[in-house]
Amino acid sequence: MPQDTPSTAPEGREAPEAHEAADENATFPPSAAFAAQANAQADLYDQAAADPTAFWAEQARKHVTWKTPFTETLDWSGAPVARWFADGTLNAAYNAVDRHVVAGNGDRVALHFEGEPGDTRTVTYAELQREVSRAANVLSSLGVEAGDRVVIYLPMIVEAVVAMLACARVGAPHSVVFGGFSADALRSRIADAEAKVVITADGGYRRGSAAALKPAVDAALETLDGGPESPVQHVLVVRRTGQDVAWTPGRDVWWHEAVEAADVQHEPVWVEAEHPLFILYTSGTTGKPKGILHTTGGYLTQAAYTHHNVFDLKPETDVYWCTADVGWVTGHTYVVYGPLLNGATQVIYEGTPDTPHQGRWWELVEKYKVSILYTAPTAIRTCMKWGEEIPGRFDLSSLRLLGSVGESINPEAWKWYRRVIGSGVTPIVDTWWQTETGAIMISPLPGVTDAKPGSAQRPLPGIAADVVDDAGQPVGHGEGGYLVVTEPWPAMLRGIWGDLERFKDTYWSRFKNVYFAGDGAKKDDDGDIWLLGRVDDVMNVSGHRLSTTEIESSLVAHEIVAEAAVVGASDETTGQAVVAFVILRSEFAADAVQADVQELLRAHVAKQIGPIAKPRTILVVPELPKTRSGKIMRRLLRDVAEHRTVGDATTLADSSVMDLIASGLATPAPK
Ligand code: PRX
Repeated sequence: MPQDTPSTAPEGREAPEAHEAADENATFPPSAAFAAQANAQADLYDQAAADPTAFWAEQARKHVTWKTPFTETLDWSGAPVARWFADGTLNAAYNAVDRHVVAGNGDRVALHFEGEPGDTRTVTYAELQREVSRAANVLSSLGVEAGDRVVIYLPMIVEAVVAMLACARVGAPHSVVFGGFSADALRSRIADAEAKVVITADGGYRRGSAAALKPAVDAALETLDGGPESPVQHVLVVRRTGQDVAWTPGRDVWWHEAVEAADVQHEPVWVEAEHPLFILYTSGTTGKPKGILHTTGGYLTQAAYTHHNVFDLKPETDVYWCTADVGWVTGHTYVVYGPLLNGATQVIYEGTPDTPHQGRWWELVEKYKVSILYTAPTAIRTCMKWGEEIPGRFDLSSLRLLGSVGESINPEAWKWYRRVIGSGVTPIVDTWWQTETGAIMISPLPGVTDAKPGSAQRPLPGIAADVVDDAGQPVGHGEGGYLVVTEPWPAMLRGIWGDLERFKDTYWSRFKNVYFAGDGAKKDDDGDIWLLGRVDDVMNVSGHRLSTTEIESSLVAHEIVAEAAVVGASDETTGQAVVAFVILRSEFAADAVQADVQELLRAHVAKQIGPIAKPRTILVVPELPKTRSGKIMRRLLRDVAEHRTVGDATTLADSSVMDLIASGLATPAPK
């Protein structure tokens, strides 16, 4: 009996045997019943391989409704900026909403919203069409035109989805900034995107209380307003918590007042396929976040195609839930565009998984009969820590497919996820992709692939990815190297906002003519791909990208810090955790108390970047290990942070530095 066969497999669900379940290399084939009904069958690989360009054209016609049909599929003559379906025109909001109403599905629930305090709201596609149309009219009345940028800084509420779609409806690229980012981070993104309007809320509910959002917008704009050319003309404010807000007359507009007064009819602005749909800022290897630019036709094609095939969505019967916030790319592609294009019924939840109790997610799965759940390994590991008796209290038998994204899922968490959450029967799709790729690139197909815990396995049909060595040559089976994408794909980024050179440098200069993802990977003996983490100075904390340089810059901006080095150290729950080593300025060093410094600097980073960037541990050290050319040897610091024996230090300019650091760390690191 395979170890993960549930004793509680719901009736009618067949528990497939895990091949070699006791073995490290166990594979989990889909059940015959799942395989037979799956949207994607094995022949999808053959169809795509026969003619990838024609394959994508077919997907674009199948999954997207065009106002003007395209006749050209791919133009790669301007590489590395691709043009897909360039002579077609369409509208993203029409595709996500209106066409379902036109098809007679207006009464289908689009969103089951659950607020953290327990308030709920159900929105059908017909209602969503009215809301989005009204909001689009509001944007137009505020002077927003096609091409203008709108920054969205909202909690996970219905209005976040409506706001994004309203922008798309008028052809205004949105730039969503995660509500956990600080005023400073918001300011730099508003300035870089030169946003004309900001959409925010008074606040949102988080961990049982109302957390304010509007003050961060006010602070961000105050500084911007200091300059002559502040781009922001209006701030639309959603009333969510009812808390008091400061008001700037003439600039600030209540969302509910404007939307209620607006007309429910709105003709979508038909845009060319390459019209920008959104900019999403993400951390790179420098201190300055990159505005990743996505356009309309190709992005929507791959979003809908992957959502249909990887999540096996049956819009009439499934209830889908992706737990990501719209502030991240997963929320863009797999909360807003992918599922809505496919006419899904989905759950969106405002709060944290442990408010008011640690079973909140599972309560929601039971309540809404969620059948497809997409989340991150860090959440799964947190639930493992809380104990399986918590999900065990709820009826999770509606689940038929589970997904994972954001970082590699360790086999132990994978098996727990399937056994405890998936009743031991559901397929799991481990999906590799990035803000830059726009949509899933490497993943099992749930009805086809024998799943291997810990591996994202194969590029999807239509995607060409490989693992190469230093010289750019594909590695053999059983070997490791760098992950690259070797052919253009429809949802690929079209650049970094305002910085074409940085786009070329970052992704296209390491290897000739191929996209370098920044991830290390290996191919196993079957040729399946295993992701090994970032090979650059980007960390991955709870599936969110953070730049070591950005946090270092923030630390050295504090008056007590002379020098700082940041590393991502492995962490049982969050994958990686931020660990900072700081040298204090001499005038502060003498009477500094480690714990006080840590608290002071953690608060400082939270203010400058946001709470997610707060180092878990800050260690005050007398020196940093550097090579003769002055480069900080982060590898050695990682050894220290992970409490390992320090590795080869022979290239250090001063080999006694590690002893100095070790002597300063005689007391255990505070957590
Ligand atoms: O290192 C990879 C990791 O997350 C990075 C992309 O981060 P971001 O742009 O924030 O997007 C996250 C959600 C798509 C990648 O370079 N990553 C993402 N998914 C996986 C992963 N690493 C391993 N396995 C995955 N399934």
